[in-house]
Amino acid sequence: MAKSRSAFICQNCGAVSSRWQGKCEACNEWNTIAEEIDSPISSQRILGGRSFELESLAGSSSTVDRVISGVEEFDRVTGGGFVPGSVILLGGEPGIGKSTLLIQICAALATRGERVIYISGEEAVAQVRLRASRLNLASAPVELAAATQVEDILATCGSGTRAALIVIDSIQTMHTNQAPSAPGTVTQVRASAQALLRHAKSSGSIVILVGHVTKDGQVAGPRVVEHMVDAVLSFEGDAAHHFRMLRASKNRFGATGEIGVFEMTGLGLAEVANPSALFLAGRDAAAPGAAVFAGMEGQRPMLLEIQALVAPTSLGTPRRAVVGFDQNRLSMILAVLEAHGGLKLGLYDIYLNVAGGLRADEPAADLAAAAALVSSLTGAVLPADQAFFGEIGLSGAVRPVIHAGMRLREAAKLGFHQAVLAQAQQINDEERRSGLALRPCADVGQLVAAIAQTAPNKRPTSSTSQ
Ligand code: TYD
Ligand code: MG
Repeated sequence: MAKSRSAFICQNCGAVSSRWQGKCEACNEWNTIAEEIDSPISSQRILGGRSFELESLAGSSSTVDRVISGVEEFDRVTGGGFVPGSVILLGGEPGIGKSTLLIQICAALATRGERVIYISGEEAVAQVRLRASRLNLASAPVELAAATQVEDILATCGSGTRAALIVIDSIQTMHTNQAPSAPGTVTQVRASAQALLRHAKSSGSIVILVGHVTKDGQVAGPRVVEHMVDAVLSFEGDAAHHFRMLRASKNRFGATGEIGVFEMTGLGLAEVANPSALFLAGRDAAAPGAAVFAGMEGQRPMLLEIQALVAPTSLGTPRRAVVGFDQNRLSMILAVLEAHGGLKLGLYDIYLNVAGGLRADEPAADLAAAAALVSSLTGAVLPADQAFFGEIGLSGAVRPVIHAGMRLREAAKLGFHQAVLAQAQQINDEERRSGLALRPCADVGQLVAAIAQTAPNKRPTSSTSQ
């Protein structure tokens, strides 16, 4: 029998080291290295092998028929439906709604007559049933089981008609006899994922693996399986808000920029077909300090409201706080507004918030953020039908950004009539047909002047705020 040895494996990134260390040198995480018995399989020598035929790229392969789940926001992210035999990893923090999303997808697919198997390693069958009945999905013919042993699961899935979809919730709870380590360790997660992957490729069933992403790295991170699977989707959101976004960070069968938007309701996840309308709902367009940013989430245009509050400070060092925006970008925008916009902001507390719990990470959000700040400082209300996009450089110049056409069309669709953008932004004829009046802006000086002009009492710009 092959001698087994110990190896020290980082549970977060899978890096192997020869001794225990407090910090993983590969991913810099603390307390993630655990001792595991090295699998004897890896030390076996591979003998012999036969040669196989190599083929050309131009050969003919039948085109795949995708399996549509019927949940449009999900199908959009997978690239227009599942590809048979593919393996998808769905990652996300605990409690974000992965199990809810998957039971809804299973029910949608099962109702269309496909065989669907849902294996829960975390919850008892009764709990899954209870959730399904809460979601009014109890009548869908989904086949359920609570199991964690991969060999048993494969034997079950292998018998009877081929399952179109097998959901494994979650990969961290699975264990296989082929690896000696405890469940949840990297070796187990990897070996279990490999066994399920082989089953998917040989049977043509689609397998979705759920993976928890934890910040402290105690549970084996699903990152070790990322390179094996065909697609990696992440389900994100903010516990305090109801919006959930599904993104593809890897997809062998589609684009990765796509996102799907859902809203967590009392009846499970509802699809949000028109996110901009939802994010802008309830905005108070008559108050100063709010600007609408025509942003992009991957390949999808999305309008967000950026809110600013500029108020005289009572502290020695004024506060600068952001929610959903990058602190360094705010500092940069403020510095540029002072240096090139003629504003004096040193005596003001400044808060910047992206409404709805979203994040505006694109540099294209600079112009909208600057407009919101100037609006709050001067008390000038921005026109309700005006959307902004453009990057601000350190010289004060407003710079063009990509996807102008998509941003303009989305704004037009939502009833906006004007767009403020970089003067240097190239707009082609097709983009011009969006119907928006374009208001080119060369630099922050122009922006400040245009907004201050409409201020009620021409309050503090450079002349009065000394
Ligand atoms: P769950 O799908 O169990 O999360 P995960 O599998 O990612 O750990 O969802 C957990 C949360 O979703 C839970 O806190 C309650 C909430 N929820 C709703 O708000 N409405 C619903 O209809 C359901 C089923 C869950
Ligand atoms: Mg769950």
